[in-house]
Amino acid sequence: MKFTLNNNTIKQLSSDCLIVAVDKNSVLTDSGKLIDKLLNGEISRVLSQGDLDTQSTNTLLFHTHHTHIKRILLVSYDHDKTTRRKNYYKLALAAANTLKKYRVNQADSLLHEIHLSNGNTNTKIQQEILAFNQAYYHFDQFKSKKPEWQKLETLSFVNNDQTHQDLEKIITETAAIANAINHAKDIANTPPNSCTPTFLARQANDLATASNQLSTEVLDEASMNQLGMHSLLSVSKGSDEQAKCIIMNYQGADKRQKPIVLVGKGITFDTGGLNLKAATGMALMKYDMCGAATVLALMKMVVELKLKINVVGCIASAENMVNGQASRPSDVVTSLSGKTIEIINTDAEGRLVLCDAMAYCQKFNPEIMIDIATLTGATIHALGYENNCLFSNDTALTEKLLQAGTAIGDPAWQLPLTDEGRQLLESDVADLKNAPNISSVVAKSTVAACFLSHFVDNCSWAHLDVANTAVCYDTNQASGRPIPMLANFLLNYK
Ligand code: BES
Ligand code: MN
Ligand code: ZN
Repeated sequence: MKFTLNNNTIKQLSSDCLIVAVDKNSVLTDSGKLIDKLLNGEISRVLSQGDLDTQSTNTLLFHTHHTHIKRILLVSYDHDKTTRRKNYYKLALAAANTLKKYRVNQADSLLHEIHLSNGNTNTKIQQEILAFNQAYYHFDQFKSKKPEWQKLETLSFVNNDQTHQDLEKIITETAAIANAINHAKDIANTPPNSCTPTFLARQANDLATASNQLSTEVLDEASMNQLGMHSLLSVSKGSDEQAKCIIMNYQGADKRQKPIVLVGKGITFDTGGLNLKAATGMALMKYDMCGAATVLALMKMVVELKLKINVVGCIASAENMVNGQASRPSDVVTSLSGKTIEIINTDAEGRLVLCDAMAYCQKFNPEIMIDIATLTGATIHALGYENNCLFSNDTALTEKLLQAGTAIGDPAWQLPLTDEGRQLLESDVADLKNAPNISSVVAKSTVAACFLSHFVDNCSWAHLDVANTAVCYDTNQASGRPIPMLANFLLNYK
């Protein structure tokens, strides 16, 4: 789908379909009124017939008698003068779904004339792009008969207000975010017999081939063994798939500028290991690489937009399976940092792969390190499905991330790193346990974050546990989160 600006005046407009907003009192926006005039009152007539219930978000598509404006899509919304960002996203989504249903292939939007109480024109255009991108996303790579449907070729935003000069920029940026979301969804939705650690490494290599600002290095099991990444390697021991630690280095700024390091959990399937998951718990575990998909997608976006920052993307990838080599509860492994870890629970494998990747990334001397992981199911109990769980050792970074998420509709909520959590990981035989005793009822998300905190060397660090948000549990599909939040953070990084 292409997103463009349409600078024509209302009178000059020609369109397959013009998207026009109408409030609950059937009042059109300013341009809507002009168009109604141009159409000799066709819109008013449709509205006065009561064909559209304007009391809530509804849509109505009809053909006009006008030669240049073929169709009108009316979209109603339930506020008189103002609406909030979230509602705006919903009404844009409703518009997109109707256009999809009726196989429209080109549209021009005037939705952004609606007044937002918590966002400007940039916000509105951004939300509209994200909503349309969401509505039209589909994954049919593994269907032998591709479902038939008409894609929307272009969505144009009608604007001849010269004061909105940064609209081109927000369109380009948001289109890149949308591409990143789709890319991450494609990777995450790929079945786990195709999406293996080796597959993820290939994705990273493909990125390097496409850009001369990005280079990829893939550590295989032999090199990780040599380096001493025995914590990561302990997870893949029970699998026939080779573990990989994948490093993508993007240089968009001066060499001396310290990079932002993004570390993603890439467990391509999580059976739990010997602490085997039950059938229901294992069902969606192909999505246990959503952190990795987020990192790959963000690197793709950074490359596409040629951002003037330095970013290192690192993926800790393994498959958590069971065979005669698999880790046992009680095993002790030595991590790359030198710290020894007693494996209490083989299902707490995410932290075992992440800690070695994070320790490895210290060599890049990060300005900021952010790890992204589907780490604990308990995030759902703590926060539900709305907010990403954020942990951080830096209040300024926390503020920036929370703000970036809120502004783009991918919110996060901060949870604490606690002494209690750290104490629960004290081991009698090793430096650290990977999880509390098997039967303990504890704040699992906090404990997991506390484990990771042991592997951060005085740098500004944030941990995003997205087990509750990376998957849409209504549809059992990858959601693309927390890409919008992190993309927004990177785009505004100074
Ligand atoms: N990949 C899971 C976390 C998860 C659960 C993600 C549900 C998405 C949905 C992770 O590896 C795991 O198994 N975590 C355990 C931690 C426990 C053993 C301390 C959990 O959440 O129960
Ligand atoms: Mn697990
Ligand atoms: Zn896992």
